[in-house]
Amino acid sequence: MTETRLENTCVFGLSWGDEGKGKIVDLLSPHFDIVVRYNGGANAGHTVCVGSEKYALHLLPTGVLQESAVGVIGPGVVVDPLGVMEEMDGLAVRGIDVAPKLKISERAHLVMPYHKVEDRLSERALSGDTRIGTTSRGIGPCYADKMRRTSAIRFADLLYEDGLADRVQSIVAGKKAYFQAAFGDDEGLAAKDVLAVIDKARDRLGAFVADTTDYLNSAERLGQRILFEGANGLMLDIDHGTYPFVTSSSTGPHGIGAGAGVPGSVLRYRIGVAKAYSTRVGAGPFVTELADATGDRIREAGHEYGTTTGRPRRCGWFDAVACGYAVRISDATHVSLMHLDTLSGFSEVGVCVAYRIGSETIRAFPGACSRLERAEPVVEMMPGWDEGLRSVRVFEDLPASTRAYIDRIESLVGAPVAIVGVGPDRSQTLVREPLKRLIPVPESTLT
Ligand code: IMP
Repeated sequence: MTETRLENTCVFGLSWGDEGKGKIVDLLSPHFDIVVRYNGGANAGHTVCVGSEKYALHLLPTGVLQESAVGVIGPGVVVDPLGVMEEMDGLAVRGIDVAPKLKISERAHLVMPYHKVEDRLSERALSGDTRIGTTSRGIGPCYADKMRRTSAIRFADLLYEDGLADRVQSIVAGKKAYFQAAFGDDEGLAAKDVLAVIDKARDRLGAFVADTTDYLNSAERLGQRILFEGANGLMLDIDHGTYPFVTSSSTGPHGIGAGAGVPGSVLRYRIGVAKAYSTRVGAGPFVTELADATGDRIREAGHEYGTTTGRPRRCGWFDAVACGYAVRISDATHVSLMHLDTLSGFSEVGVCVAYRIGSETIRAFPGACSRLERAEPVVEMMPGWDEGLRSVRVFEDLPASTRAYIDRIESLVGAPVAIVGVGPDRSQTLVREPLKRLIPVPESTLT
C-alpha cells in the first residue's frame, strides 16, 4: 500500500551532536501531532532559523514552534527547571506561547543547582587529558543521582512528596560534605537556594506535569503521529559512543523505549542526521580531525561554534567508519546530510573510509579510546565543487561532483541519503524519494 503520510519517526544525531537535527525536526514537525524529547537535557542546543529569527532551544522540543504540535519532555530527560522557564519566557517575548501544548513527565528528573556545582568541580579536578569537557549543565551528576536512587528529585516529587523540603536539606548537607572532602570547595551551595528553585519549579511548571507515558501510548493507539527528537548524537551515547568521552544518556532510537516509555516498534522512520563533514565539541578521540588550516576553513565556513557553550568546534573530514557504525546500531532507515553548502569552494573533499592502527586497517569502529587515539584515518579525496549550493532547490540540480560525494557516502554508510541541507533556512533542504512525496517542498521563510 502506498503511504500517504509520515508515520512515527525518530530524528537523531549520527555523530557527536550539532548535526543540524533541529532543522530536520522543524521541517518534519508540521506532519506530527506530538513531538517528544526522550534523552539528555540542556546540554543539547537546537538552533532553528525561521525567516530572520534564530531560535536556540535546549530543553523544549523544537516542535513547540509549530502551532499544532504538542511538545512532550519524557521521563528520560533531565530537566533544568530554570532553563525551561527561561526558554518559555524567551519564546513568549517573540509571541510564542508554549504553555497550552507542553507536557513534562512526572517521572523526569530535575537538574538541581548541586548537579551543576558537581559538574564544574569534578571537571576542574580532572587533569587535562582525562577531562571530558562537559557542557557544565549538570547532566552527568543528575543522571548519576538517578542511578544511585538516593538523592534524586523527580517532577512527581514536587507535586506529591510530603517532606520534600526535609529531604532536600539532607541531600544538600550530604552534597556539601562530599564536595568539601573531594574537591575542597562547595561553591557556597545552600539548601535555601535549592528550595527556592524547587518552589519556583512547582509554581511555574507544576501545571505541565503529566503522566506522559500513558498520554503517548494512548495517543499512539488512537493513530496520532509522534516525532521523537533525539538530543546529542550516537558517538556521544553512553553505551555506544567514545566512552568515557560521552554524555550520560541513550541518544539514538534505542533510547526511546527507556526515555519516552513508548516501544521502539512504533517507529516507521529512523532518520539519522550527519553533517557533510565531522565536528566534535569537548574532549575525546576524533580520528578525522583536521587541526590545520583546512579544519579552520571548515569551522569558519560552517560557523562551527557551540550553540550551548559557544566553544569552537573541532572539525574534520566526513568519517564513514564512525557514521556507518552509527547507522548500523540505530538501524537508520535514512540519512539526512547537512551543511553541504559549507564545503563549496574546496578543490577536493575527503571521506574517511577506514582506520589504520599500526599495521592493521580496520573498518569496524573500535570500542577502546586508546585505539581510537592511535588510529590514522584512511582518507579518500574526491573532486570538490565551486558552486554555491544555497539556491539549489531540487536534488538533481546539485553539481555532479556533489552528487558523486553523496553517492559515495551512501554506499559507505549503508543507508540512503534522503535529505540534504544546503543552507540554514527551511527552504534550503532537498528531500529525495521516498520521503519527498510525504514532505512537500518547504516554503522559504527568507524575506
Ligand atoms: P555533558 O553532556 O555536558 O556531560 O558533556 C559530555 C560530552 O558531550 C562533552 O564532550 C560535551 O561537549 C558533549 N555534548 C553533550 N551534548 C552535546 C551536544 O548536543 N552537542 C555537542 N556536544 C555535546
